[in-house]
Amino acid sequence: MHVLVTGGAGYIGSHTCLALLEAGHAVTVLDNLCNSSTVALQRVQEIASKSLRFVQGDVRKPHDLALAFEAGIDAVIHFAALKAVSESCEEPLRYFDNNIAGTICLMQAMQGHGVHQLVFSSSATVYGQPDVVPVDETAPLRVSNPYGRSKLVMEDLIGDWCNAKPDVGAVLLRYFNPVGAHPSGRIGEDPRGTPNNLMPYVAQVAIGRRERLQVFGNDYPTPDGTGIRDYLHVVDLAEAHVKALDFASDASGCHILNLGTGRGTSVLELVHAFEQATGQPIPLDIVARRAGDVAEYWADPAKANACLGWHATRTIHDMCADTWRWQSLNPQGYAP
Ligand code: NAD
Ligand code: UD1
Repeated sequence: MHVLVTGGAGYIGSHTCLALLEAGHAVTVLDNLCNSSTVALQRVQEIASKSLRFVQGDVRKPHDLALAFEAGIDAVIHFAALKAVSESCEEPLRYFDNNIAGTICLMQAMQGHGVHQLVFSSSATVYGQPDVVPVDETAPLRVSNPYGRSKLVMEDLIGDWCNAKPDVGAVLLRYFNPVGAHPSGRIGEDPRGTPNNLMPYVAQVAIGRRERLQVFGNDYPTPDGTGIRDYLHVVDLAEAHVKALDFASDASGCHILNLGTGRGTSVLELVHAFEQATGQPIPLDIVARRAGDVAEYWADPAKANACLGWHATRTIHDMCADTWRWQSLNPQGYAP
């Protein structure tokens, strides 16, 4: 298959492009590089010893989409989005325009080119504070910020498109907490500015770019008082996209799947696992809770296991060791 990967130069996109090339697919990436670097794509091609096609452009621009679709695209994986929760609270309209308008333009281009298979990056953020854990796909949806709202609206728009067009098959993947890096250490997460998320922050403390980790609260109703999440290795996540593509090829309608390990890990457990896997001490301070954080959630991934024949296989140890290999080989990320 020839797969169009929007946002393919980004963190999850670059790992997925590699998995697609390794699975024998042809790949075109459409990315405006607003949060990524072409170095990631060069390295993907080097690791795979295969080439991909890159179109620098924006999913909101019909001309850029036309260039991307020129190659004869069979299916689309749509990663392109802005993803910082705090930024979305300051600039909701930018998020709605980039994420929602971008997805509408993409669906129009797909329809215009007769492309009917779509795999979409959603997020566990659509569940907000869950009533019970593990969280399955029937859990109530409670978005609490404009980023989460944009994901939920995009899910609904894709669902409506599928309802109207029986030949469209879409898989909406709700990721829990993607972390880690390719085991080569050549591609990984390269956040711009101060990392918002735990694992990249821990890695930057270990490499000396940040002094100390701030642990946001140890008074949650969890065994050690710190927040619990379902961390998922990005290579497991990339493999799930390849399987989701196969699934979308045979399916019509809109299918929603949680992607996680089904296991929860607390902040302190993750920090200790990182110290053990890497031998790097992580100095930390316990500070107040971060506004908007939930105490704990982890996925019930049974539906994805059954539909895709996919299971996350990599451990917290693998996630920490691979993050550290990437961080120590690339202390400044992709910057020269
Ligand atoms: P990322 O920022 O590394 O990748 C997104 C890519 O999309 C970037 O390369 C960026 O340049 C590109 N992009 C953004 N807007 C674009 C536009 N209008 N046109 C073309 N390209 C554009 O983020 P990521 O972590 O790889 O996330 C990928 C997807 O997964 C996003 O949709 C994100 O919301 C979703 N997601 C991420 C996480 C996470 O923790 N990383 C969790 C749940 C869901
Ligand atoms: C964040 C986003 C969420 C997104 C998810 C996946 C917020 C409010 N939510 O959620 O929308 O889908 O990432 O990537 O940004 N922590 C610290 N110190 C830090 C950073 C984090 O203690 O410096 C703690 C948090 O309080 C939390 C855990 O680590 O308990 C994980 O945090 P993070 O990596 O930001 O993920 P989420 O909170 O799940």
